[in-house]
Amino acid sequence: MKKQTRSLVIALIAALGIGAAVPGAAVAQSVKSIRGADVAAPEAAVGNFKPIPDQAPIQRDYVQQPPLIPHKVDGYEVTINFNKCMDCHAWSRYKDTGATKVSLTHFKDRDGGELSNVSPRRYFCMQCHVPQTDARPLVGNSFQRAEGLR
Ligand code: HEC
Ligand code: HEC
Repeated sequence: MKKQTRSLVIALIAALGIGAAVPGAAVAQSVKSIRGADVAAPEAAVGNFKPIPDQAPIQRDYVQQPPLIPHKVDGYEVTINFNKCMDCHAWSRYKDTGATKVSLTHFKDRDGGELSNVSPRRYFCMQCHVPQTDARPLVGNSFQRAEGLR
């Protein structure tokens, strides 16, 4: 490694605070919400929560909201080759499966052009639609359902 590159790497490590992390040292740190409230939820680890049982669609809280996923999605593959969600939600499948057909808005490309299949920007469904678990909310929330939906 060139001397210059090496000092750059060292400076970068120092700036990132990697050098300060002592392996094995337990750091008691409180978790803060984005607005600064203390969050008492160190149990928030993957596997600590059960997915909610399958149920009817969950009411939306604002008009433009991506609907929440009201069923389990364990093992549902969404990769470049295969999209398990479309097995049931595609326009060609929904009548047989009883699923809501994928929204018409999902067939638009980013310039507003209409496509004959789901747009690549809507392909990874769980970027926007999220499954639910029995986890408690980390902080209180006083959000009121939008007027048009009450
Ligand atoms: C085996 C079939 C099946 C698969 C696979 C499936 N779903 Fe569903 N989905 C359903 C059914 C059935 C409903 C409920 C429809 C009803 O009761 O009106 C539903 C409901 C939903 C809803 C709620 C729609 C609304 O209007 O509120 C969303 C969002 C959703 N699914 C997303 C997904 C996503 C994302 C995936 C892939 C990770 C997926 N689903 C995979 C069958 C499926
Ligand atoms: C970029 C965010 C985004 C992605 C990615 C996305 N959706 Fe959506 N979806 C939304 C939003 C927002 C709505 C509600 C407004 C609308 O219909 O566009 C919605 C609505 C829906 C609905 C309800 C349609 C209805 O008639 O009420 C279904 C079903 C759905 N999406 C399924 C899917 C599936 C399946 C995928 C993956 C193939 C997917 N979505 C990918 C944002 C997204």
